[in-house]
Amino acid sequence: METIRRIKVKELLGMEPGTEVLAKGWVRTKRGNKQVKFIALNDGSTVNSIQIVADTTVISEDILKRISTGASLAVRGSLVESVGSGQRVEIQAKEIEIYGECDPMRYPLQKKDTSLEYLRTVAHMRMRTNTFGAVLRIRHAMAFAIHKFFNDKGFVYLNTPLITESDCEGAGQMFQVTTYDLEKELPRTKKGEIDYSGDFFGKQTSLTVSGQLEGELGATALGEIYTFGPTFRAENSNTPRHLAEFWMIEPEMAFYDIKDNMDLAEEFIKYLVSYALENCIDDVRFLNDKYDPELIDRLRGVCQTEFVRLEYTEGIKILEEAVSNGVQFEYPVYWGVDLQSEHERYLVEKHFRKPVILTGYPKEIKAFYMKQDDNGKTVRAMDVLFPKIGEIIGGSEREASLEKLENRINELGMSRKNLEWYIDTRRFGTVPHSGFGLGFERLLLFVTGMSNIRDVIPFPRTPKNAEF
Ligand code: 4AD
Ligand code: MG
Repeated sequence: METIRRIKVKELLGMEPGTEVLAKGWVRTKRGNKQVKFIALNDGSTVNSIQIVADTTVISEDILKRISTGASLAVRGSLVESVGSGQRVEIQAKEIEIYGECDPMRYPLQKKDTSLEYLRTVAHMRMRTNTFGAVLRIRHAMAFAIHKFFNDKGFVYLNTPLITESDCEGAGQMFQVTTYDLEKELPRTKKGEIDYSGDFFGKQTSLTVSGQLEGELGATALGEIYTFGPTFRAENSNTPRHLAEFWMIEPEMAFYDIKDNMDLAEEFIKYLVSYALENCIDDVRFLNDKYDPELIDRLRGVCQTEFVRLEYTEGIKILEEAVSNGVQFEYPVYWGVDLQSEHERYLVEKHFRKPVILTGYPKEIKAFYMKQDDNGKTVRAMDVLFPKIGEIIGGSEREASLEKLENRINELGMSRKNLEWYIDTRRFGTVPHSGFGLGFERLLLFVTGMSNIRDVIPFPRTPKNAEF
């Protein structure tokens, strides 16, 4: 059996008939009659399976009996033109080796219920479905395209720490990291606070909520950097758009103002979406046909249209007008409010019908590091809002003035102790600079058309769920 090279299904499906081939994979379906069985074999290289035609005069009944959905096989045979519809070529089997049988009574993907909700309950197996194969191949392609986009522009990939002493977003959503034994009484200082001097790092540490602050150290040295790594948020939001562990891409650029930042964000997303359309079309089409018939149109639309750029204040006016015209929101709308995803989606899906970049947010609802406008009220924040998703990117121009940054840190009563290293960027050769963070899974929600963020990451972490 092993004398010829195994060829992956993706390649087989593009080959000319007439050769002897060896394929390996897992059975998706088996059907047929007494004389001949048709087996759909998939090896994860593509959403499409190759049809194996097994004639009972060639392959023993005993072997064929043991083959069922989920079983793993090696198949040697001739690649021939397919007479059936649906595929160009198929394999006329000469020899089949079963690596592993798959008990149809117990195999969780045997069930008729293939809903995404059901698959979440058997998440250890769901990568074997066409849906998760498609999503995870697209996820891979997007990761590759992200590195390519920045590499082609001369950005440096900077690895920022996952364990950190600072709370970048200041939202208090950090998972603490400690080697203290929580079963035992914790050491206390004279003031009664926990004494971390005996802890592993000798100070209180957490998992990072963002690599931005360290990214700024890189950008103010290397010029243009990006990070791409896991990010952790202990926010108790059980929504289809929040994960406790998600991946974020954070470019940070010296000498970029807010407009340059918006231009880069728009170019970046359009690049990624066109990359998916050009390089993952089989998977995208599969998801389009199975879940979301408007997916491909929506993806093409985003590549072709210019994003709206709008001041927060103008956005609030539009929402207030909508409310006075009878539109009902769950949460109130007024100047100063942190927009909910229902508001963001109204602007994008109902009002403008295209992506919107909202800027000039009230400083109270944004992080300490954002550049303050002269009016004393707003900051140069930008959120990119997308159809079906709401916020997909959050970013800003950064406050470059040492004095203004220090004032804001003091105003917010933040502890400077853990931020002196950051403040040094403004103390020594400060420059205008900007950056943003793209939520990788939010991007994937958009590109795959999936509606729950738990379905675009292989091992989702959400409140009360950290399986595997
Ligand atoms: O808007 P956020 O909180 O911005 C930052 O963290 C900045 N430090 C980024 C920067 O300027 N370098 O998060 C950025 C993006 C959001 O727009 C969203 O796409 C995603 O990260 N995000 C989440 N994705 C999944 N689950 C969560 N809990 C998320 N929180 C944020
Ligand atoms: Mg945000």
